Amino acid sequence: MSIDEKETAPIGVFDSGVGGLTVVREIARQLPGENIVYFGDTARVPYGSKSKDNIIRFSKQIIRFLQTKNVKAIVIACNTASALALDDVRDTFDLPIIGVVVPGARAAVEATINHHVGVVGTDATVRSKVYTTNITDMNPEISVVEKACPLFVPLVEEGFKDHPVIEEIIDYYLRPLRESEIDTMILGCTHYPLIRSKIREYMGEEIQIVNPAYETAMDLKKILKRLHMENPQSEQGYCEFYVSDAADKFKQFANSVMPYDISSTKVINIEEF
Ligand code: DGL
Repeated sequence: MSIDEKETAPIGVFDSGVGGLTVVREIARQLPGENIVYFGDTARVPYGSKSKDNIIRFSKQIIRFLQTKNVKAIVIACNTASALALDDVRDTFDLPIIGVVVPGARAAVEATINHHVGVVGTDATVRSKVYTTNITDMNPEISVVEKACPLFVPLVEEGFKDHPVIEEIIDYYLRPLRESEIDTMILGCTHYPLIRSKIREYMGEEIQIVNPAYETAMDLKKILKRLHMENPQSEQGYCEFYVSDAADKFKQFANSVMPYDISSTKVINIEEF
């Protein structure tokens, strides 16, 4: 790719499903000129209950697919894949790849005042302890409590984000965190910002809630600038959507969370990549 082609090439963004849209939303807000190609692995969601080997395999297939769209960089808009596959895919592919965990950990380290941080995420992310490792590497005085909330992802994927059943499940998972000393809580799964207002209501105004998407988009901006790859166009970039199954359901959901209309979503056979 020539320098000019690199500037206008899209950013590849992926997640297991609709969660990564919370990151796309933030990229589109902070880097409006960038084009985006999004892949949601709707046939294989949730990732949070899968093995490390499979998450690495899925991530490699998706990056190979995104490369066919000539992406200039990849954002892994999934904490589970960032936790378990980032190192492997960085070793395999020769393009800038960023995850959401380090930006999220950094934001929490900056936000906490009493040095007690809570992290909510999928089973796989919590088991990996990636947030605890990153946070304590940045500041060993911070203590971290991690809590897996595996039912949040299927509920969000099923469109239950405003259903009253969510409140009972939030109480079931988050009570120990609400009763702990934490003053900061990381939404360590990109699906969770979609139920942020319910989490906020339950945890109370005094807890700082960190959505790693914000910091991730800032990191992406810095990297593109450093590599002279920023898209100079002044109009809003395009966003193409691909999924591995159920395109209509995805499109309907995406239209309820994105600030602009999603006109089409295509299904691709990700196992071919
Ligand atoms: N949204 C993803 C994450 O941030 C994956 C959730 C899942 O598929 O279990 O972890």
